[in-house]
Amino acid sequence: MSFDEKAAAFINEAKRIAKVVASAERIYVFTHIDADGISSGSIAYETARRLSIPVEIKFLKKLDDEATRLIREKTDGLVWMNDLGSGYISRFTGMNMVIADHHQPEPETPIAVDNGRVVLAESTIHHLNAHLFGIEGSTEICSSTTSYFISRSVSRKNIDLAPIAIVGAVGDLQDSRQGKLTGMNRLVLEDAASEGLLQVVRDGRFYGKETRGMTKLLEYSVDPPIPGISNEPGSAERLLQSLRINYRSNGREMTWYEIGPEERRKVMSYIVERMIAERIPANEINSVVGESYLIVANGGGTNGMPKDAKEFATLLNACGRYEHYDVGMGICLGDREQSLVNALKLLENHRKNVANTIRLVREGGLEPMRHIQFFHVRDRAPDSIIGTIAGILMKSKDVDASRSIVGFAYSDGKVKVSARGNAELVSRGLNLSEAVRLAAEQVGGVGGGHSIAAGATIDVGKETEFLSSLDNAIEGQMSRGSGSVT
Ligand code: C5P
Ligand code: C5P
Repeated sequence: MSFDEKAAAFINEAKRIAKVVASAERIYVFTHIDADGISSGSIAYETARRLSIPVEIKFLKKLDDEATRLIREKTDGLVWMNDLGSGYISRFTGMNMVIADHHQPEPETPIAVDNGRVVLAESTIHHLNAHLFGIEGSTEICSSTTSYFISRSVSRKNIDLAPIAIVGAVGDLQDSRQGKLTGMNRLVLEDAASEGLLQVVRDGRFYGKETRGMTKLLEYSVDPPIPGISNEPGSAERLLQSLRINYRSNGREMTWYEIGPEERRKVMSYIVERMIAERIPANEINSVVGESYLIVANGGGTNGMPKDAKEFATLLNACGRYEHYDVGMGICLGDREQSLVNALKLLENHRKNVANTIRLVREGGLEPMRHIQFFHVRDRAPDSIIGTIAGILMKSKDVDASRSIVGFAYSDGKVKVSARGNAELVSRGLNLSEAVRLAAEQVGGVGGGHSIAAGATIDVGKETEFLSSLDNAIEGQMSRGSGSVT
């Protein structure tokens, strides 16, 4: 089947599910706490509100027994799950439910084929998941874009929610492999751009173009790393001076957007020429110079509200990781007053936490095994940023890229696990979703996710056993070879 055919089948299913949503008498939205979860939850919530359907929203860190019980209590309306649920459908048999998710579905998901359309055999659970249509769930569509397809089918007016959906996709790093959004995400991007709500620009894909001074921007860039500059103190200053770029004004460093277009072009040509000279593969060059998405609607770029989708996503993560979900949702739904003030404070704190935790982990070092390397912060960092830390380290040039990184932190009497790989390992057979799920189950825990990024919760004291199961599972995957990023 061609991509267009798969996309059409997916959109048809979204249209069918939109009718289920529109006819609900009451909607309970459940969603995950990260940027994608907050964006998709906001889209679901706003869709219901615009239909004048009574709606409540609840954010979940994970789908554990307590969360399952809470969801199962909602029998007097439609439950709309976002960014969670596909891995655990059998827990919800008989419930009136929409699941808009992009995680690998439970292996035993009861699917049936109806007129060429893949549907869930369980008739009261309406499952919209790209995997069921042969579409890649970790790079071509996320939860916010999945929910957006339902929302847009409810009413064309909901097209104004497209930029929020894009923030979710960028928050899940779905643009990182090719330096741009592709697949189903691209269709959402086209909606947002055609309405003039968002601009697609070709530019350096560094994080912090609106908020970091020039030297920090370049030296701290890990996703993408800039050869010879990232993690090299003093290198950015030398580069800017050699290019005769004036990057200071009123005693402070200017940001990327403040230095002006000609200066930006000079920096980009230098970086690209250097990457070509160092024979860096084209896909890595694309991850440095690729697309950036600027949200021009709703006050983006004024009063501290980011317009860059990457920064918007980090702002949402800063809210979600510290349990201020309502603040994140407020921003998604356009509050540029109190929510924005609160979110910017949370962001400052988040950045400090991330920087301190990276320092802490670097000091302690990563413990290597055959296919993984791990760290344990115990209670010295919030469990909710462990995945961010593992992801940043995995992309750092000074860390062994041939072993996936596993991070542990204590979390409410349990251990939170986050594992991150890279595209190269996935192409050689790595599937963290499967391996982490398996290793977690071996020690009585739960886990899952994507091939490139997965997580789990296990009991305290089970870390060593978990690690050796995980290492063995990955050994098996790598010896079997070739995988795909899902
Ligand atoms: O919960 P969810 O699916 O939304 O999260 C996806 C996770 O995968 C994010 O934490 C994101 O940072 C991570 N990821 C990654 N590398 C990629 C793509 C996604 O670490 N190339
Ligand atoms: O929590 P963390 O960011 O490490 O999660 C990485 C990916 O694994 C996310 O997509 C998350 O939703 C997923 N995950 C999962 N089941 C778990 C824990 C995480 O599917 N128990």
